[in-house]
Amino acid sequence: MYRILQNFIYLLPLILFLACASEKQDVETRNMDRFIDNLMKEMTLEEKIGQLTLYSSFMDETGPFMNEDYLDYIRVGRVGAVFNAYTTEYTREIQRIAVEETRLGIPLLFGYDVIHGHRTIFPMPIGETATWDLEMIEQSARYAAQEATAEGLNWTFSPMIDVTRDPRWGRIAESSGEDPLLASLVGRAKIRGYQGDDLSQPNTMLATAKHFAAYGFPQAGRDYHTVDISELTLRNVVLPAFKAAAEEGVATYMTSFNDLFGVPASGSNFLLNEVLRNEWGFDGFVVTDYTSINEMVPHGFARDDKHAGELAINAGVDMDMQGSVYHDYLEELVDDGKVNEETIEKAVRRILTLKYKLGLFEDPYRYNDKDREETMIMTLEIMDFARDFARKSVVLLKNEENTLPLSDDVRSLALIGPMADNQRDMIGSWSAAGDYAKSVTLRKGLENRLGTNARINYAQGTTVNGTDRSGFSQAIAAARNSDAVIMALGEEYWQSGEAASRSDISLPGVQEELFDEIIKLGKPVVVIIMSGRPLTIGNVDEKADAILYAWYLGTTTGDALADVMFGDYNPAAKLPVTFPRNVGQIPIFYYAKNTGRPESEIKFTSKYLDVPNTPLYPFGYGLSYTTFGYSDITLSSDQLPMDGELKATLSVTNTGDRFGEEVVQFYTRQLVGSVTRPLKELKNFQKIGLEPGETKEVVFTISAADLAFYNAQNELKAEPGAFHLFIGASSADVKKAAFTLLSK
Ligand code: NOJ
Repeated sequence: MYRILQNFIYLLPLILFLACASEKQDVETRNMDRFIDNLMKEMTLEEKIGQLTLYSSFMDETGPFMNEDYLDYIRVGRVGAVFNAYTTEYTREIQRIAVEETRLGIPLLFGYDVIHGHRTIFPMPIGETATWDLEMIEQSARYAAQEATAEGLNWTFSPMIDVTRDPRWGRIAESSGEDPLLASLVGRAKIRGYQGDDLSQPNTMLATAKHFAAYGFPQAGRDYHTVDISELTLRNVVLPAFKAAAEEGVATYMTSFNDLFGVPASGSNFLLNEVLRNEWGFDGFVVTDYTSINEMVPHGFARDDKHAGELAINAGVDMDMQGSVYHDYLEELVDDGKVNEETIEKAVRRILTLKYKLGLFEDPYRYNDKDREETMIMTLEIMDFARDFARKSVVLLKNEENTLPLSDDVRSLALIGPMADNQRDMIGSWSAAGDYAKSVTLRKGLENRLGTNARINYAQGTTVNGTDRSGFSQAIAAARNSDAVIMALGEEYWQSGEAASRSDISLPGVQEELFDEIIKLGKPVVVIIMSGRPLTIGNVDEKADAILYAWYLGTTTGDALADVMFGDYNPAAKLPVTFPRNVGQIPIFYYAKNTGRPESEIKFTSKYLDVPNTPLYPFGYGLSYTTFGYSDITLSSDQLPMDGELKATLSVTNTGDRFGEEVVQFYTRQLVGSVTRPLKELKNFQKIGLEPGETKEVVFTISAADLAFYNAQNELKAEPGAFHLFIGASSADVKKAAFTLLSK
């Protein structure tokens, strides 16, 4: 008793502090609710509908332009938010119209696709995920928010947390790849980075979890195509990242363009009201992706736009991006008795609440600070970070006989290929207001690194997509006259991203022919590939001496690549997506199931006649300039009680001669389930750094909650039974142990 009392006295200040903080929060919430109640009492139905309307400005175009008169509509209170507008001056003027010329002066939200940086561009999301460095990912979002909010923005349409297994789909570039856990963790990190701890700070912004849901599963990888997946896949693969986003407190969700179970996402009561709001308790607002309300008509789900509007608002869509359907029809729909005014009011309240939390009612111009615009963008600190982040995204796929790193003694380098000296492509697609005039190409980066110590014999050789071979001879001559050859190949920036699906994902144009010509010279060839997706590079893999997969690295591309190529940084990135050998293997992903006829030498088993089942490079794969040795796994027990924990331990040793980082990956497999289970599922990972000869113990803890999955009744449960546990350097290179999950 005395002990309890002593503890209580000891904890008293903390208890009082927490009680005061929660009291303060209650008061703030009451004040906010009162403010919004009073405001809403003043609003006409037309003004309420205005809050549900989002229009694009003329500054940028991210889809079909729908409304020429958006400024006039702002003037009469019929617009709640604007996107594709930035710079303090431009957004200040638009905000001024809303605040000073409308009857109630309600400030606007300013949204934009700040996807992988705003002015300073960081690696493409698929590349940033390859770092497996959640702190850096969060920090990149923090810097993106710092820059974007200094230019008038307070809402980003990011993170995109669509899991996808299809590299034909161009938007794989904007995703975190194929794994549900990785997508959840990256999504959470970005949400924290954008939103910070306090939305009322002028350098934080609303984040958007998109695209809700299953947009990453279009048939045949064709953008906007039909999605037809099971509810098991939906619950176990697609939704975990969206659920994690709700838990992380994301402010908004964006619906997807596709249908799911025959219902377009913007008309899906199941997704929006049942799952998002009722199951997960989300209380922010839902915006459409562009004109996806209108698109319910061609989908064959709504008779006309008016009907589409009725379906969308009743399904739980709060804000209509660009489609003008709410603007044109919601009032009529209320008059016709098809939509309740309370439904509209709920949506308005959600939007006003976030405007309030951003502090816009207190100061509508808080994001229009010229000083910040002049001092907070592309600072030295951000550029240094960008370079470090970029080099950490580069995956070393092959390195025969330690071709890389290049020696400082090199006196002449041939730099060949269409991606070697092209500023625009360096920042990739969806690069927002990215200032590509400031991007460092590979050529420039090598010049910066080498100065006058070595000659760079540059030859473009060919274009990315053309068939002109007239530059081949110059490229061959450059290679002949140099100690080593670097080839920069890939896709142009617009060949991945939205509306950028490809049915053939090999290197475009005659780049591979050029590569074959150079290989014939017998010199060591390092290939650097820049692309937003895995390409089918079997031929390059067979013949090149070394391959670096660079995705699009952003503003500091050339410097970051030079760091990697000369060993100033030892690569440690790992693939967040499986690389197929050919298009026919797609979808190919590591958490596939065993099937009833797993591949063997017997004919009637699950395999191809012309290609192995294995990928070119597996999920989680990536080399280093050093090597790592993995010990066997020791388990704290081979039995895991339902309410207990189990520790799996192994040691990793740097067996090479330079410092290196390693992403140690932890997977499990349930051998028998009430529904069939994948061969492996990523459960955790740790990125560790090791000096030459150093050994570190890596411990993973697992409990029943980590093993839970959605069963056929849509219940999230762990099922007792036999498990395998794997720890290793990639999904295909692991040590194995076994344990049993007990029923109690
Ligand atoms: C369409 C894209 O699908 C979405 O991701 C983006 O945020 C909007 N356009 C706005 O630009």
